[in-house]
Amino acid sequence: MAKQRSRPSIIAGNWKMYKTAGEAVQFIDALNPLIQSSDKVRVLLAPPFTAIYPAAERAKGTSIVIGAQNMNDASEGAFTGEVAALMLKEAGAQFVILGHSERRRIFKEDNGMVNRKVLRALEAGLQPIVCIGETREEHEANKMEQVLKAQLVESLAGVTARPAAQLVIAYEPVWAIGTGLTATPEQAQKAHAYIRKCIEEQWSATAAQAVPIIYGGSVKPDHAKALMEQPDIDGLLVGGAALQPDSFARIVNFEQSIVTSKG
Ligand code: PGA
Repeated sequence: MAKQRSRPSIIAGNWKMYKTAGEAVQFIDALNPLIQSSDKVRVLLAPPFTAIYPAAERAKGTSIVIGAQNMNDASEGAFTGEVAALMLKEAGAQFVILGHSERRRIFKEDNGMVNRKVLRALEAGLQPIVCIGETREEHEANKMEQVLKAQLVESLAGVTARPAAQLVIAYEPVWAIGTGLTATPEQAQKAHAYIRKCIEEQWSATAAQAVPIIYGGSVKPDHAKALMEQPDIDGLLVGGAALQPDSFARIVNFEQSIVTSKG
């Protein structure tokens, strides 16, 4: 099946709690000459909060877009240690990763919390990358579809069709994150097609066709291409392999070559 090209490809790096502001700037200087820029591929990087502003300043004039890994669900207030959507936006963030499984598991974020953050991010003009994915136990109990649907519907409650089309969904099977176990391209494609069907049922066929669905979980340069060739995989959310400019550039450039040869 020919790859759907109406959606831009997205290669996103999630740095988690790695890299100081200085290291982030050095990374951008090293990455930029290694990647080919194209309007068909969006290259996203999510550094820790403290590196967002310097990274966004350094990325100006390049094809690299900077975003955040999390935010608070309130617009402002007495929430010691928290960061609000508008603060991120003003620092230069253009997107925010929400509901990552590490946030759900370690910081006990549930779908209701993710939903409040999604609504707040959209209000602030930050593009939410909403992460969903089943655990190993749920996977082994054949509950993938049930879990994905509940996470999707509950995390996006109250989001109407037009803003829904501005989201990015990241399918990140929890059993694949940081474990070295990647979903096979076929497994990931099946999950992505199912997510797209849920978006169509919940919002509209137009939204389902517009929303990029990206895959995350132990993505390495060697299997990026096979994943990206699947018709419903529009991009990759990369953790460990996004910490080195050369491995991240290899993933970006693989995708560029697929776009160039197929597009
Ligand atoms: P990983 O992380 O590539 O290191 O598995 C992916 C993620 O957590 O987004």
